[in-house]
Amino acid sequence: MDARNRSYAPYSGYNVGAAILCEDGQIVTGSNIENASYGATVCAERCAVFSAVSSGKKRFTAIAIAGGEASEKDVMSDYAYPCGICRQVLREFADPASFTVIVARSAKDHKEYKLEELLPDSFGPDNLS
Ligand code: THU
Repeated sequence: MDARNRSYAPYSGYNVGAAILCEDGQIVTGSNIENASYGATVCAERCAVFSAVSSGKKRFTAIAIAGGEASEKDVMSDYAYPCGICRQVLREFADPASFTVIVARSAKDHKEYKLEELLPDSFGPDNLS
């Protein structure tokens, strides 16, 4: 929710925040950052992953995502699911069978998935080794 408050989304008005849990217990957040040249926009999930990887983290266990309209403070109208590109980026640094994706409407109201449910039969680093 905090990361969502730092979103820069003047074009879509769709604010997203993500928090990724590193294997060492550290949590790194990200927000979606839009651009006047729309294609340069980056999703919240990828901001979180890239921030974590660029600070030296390489393995992650879970991500929590909150986004879209708020029906009241820190309560979203709906669950915000990660887009296909973000699912693939998460796949690069996670075990799809154990990595948990949490989509939250509020601190109390959330759903949990394993990455492999959201990205079945995925393509990953192992396919190239
Ligand atoms: N967005 C995310 O941050 N994460 C997703 O997984 C889906 C979409 C952002 C990108 C853009 O700033 C806005 O939501 C509308 O697409």
